[in-house]
Amino acid sequence: MEIRKAAYLVSSPSFDKCPKADYPEYAFIGRSNVGKSSLINMLTGQRSLAKTSATPGKTQLINHFVIESSSGQKGPLDKWYLVDLPGYGYAKRSQSDRRRWEQMIEGYFRKRENLTQVFVLIDSRHGPQKNDLEFISQLDKWGVVFSLVFTKTDKEKPAVVERNIKAFFDTLKTTWQFLPRHFITSAEKKLGREEMLAFIEGNNLD
Ligand code: GTP
Ligand code: MG
Repeated sequence: MEIRKAAYLVSSPSFDKCPKADYPEYAFIGRSNVGKSSLINMLTGQRSLAKTSATPGKTQLINHFVIESSSGQKGPLDKWYLVDLPGYGYAKRSQSDRRRWEQMIEGYFRKRENLTQVFVLIDSRHGPQKNDLEFISQLDKWGVVFSLVFTKTDKEKPAVVERNIKAFFDTLKTTWQFLPRHFITSAEKKLGREEMLAFIEGNNLD
């Protein structure tokens, strides 16, 4: 799939303020600082489409981007929304901010009708983390379909990344009947881009 155009549309404080649900929507979420914005920029091929930051907690609202893609130079254009969501597990957030985040996220995941796929980003430098496991259990309870995306794989030795991913799945296997699809990525090295775009394209055609 080729990305022809990627543009920021709007930031919304709640699902009912989001743009009209007229295109398939792909959302990105994960722990604060996991690399969501960097991954979005890598996938769209635009360096500063989503704001990245070394300080966690940068993304606070539901950020919509409009993407135009095609399967080749001359193929018909597909339009879809890409959404950058604020991360969880940001320790410095106040109690009231956290509650606002929970309400915003729950409303979005339960009610956004055009939501086609959610990508949950997991930092490949660590073994299974409690807040990631809790979050995906919550998604499952809400009946949301998601894939896992292991990020920042350039930052660790391949053997460490492999061990962490295996440990994550071993943990899931103890309680989950079906294991989610996963992607192995590095925004830095542009790793996993083709796989994720091909998956999104396949999803769009269904
Ligand atoms: P919040 O919006 O604050 O929750 O963060 P985020 O998940 O959007 O993370 P962001 O993309 O802003 O990246 C956080 C930091 O990690 C930045 O300093 C990025 O440069 C760095 N980073 C992200 N992805 C990668 C990667 O694949 N490789 C390396 N080496 N660094 C990365
Ligand atoms: Mg971000």
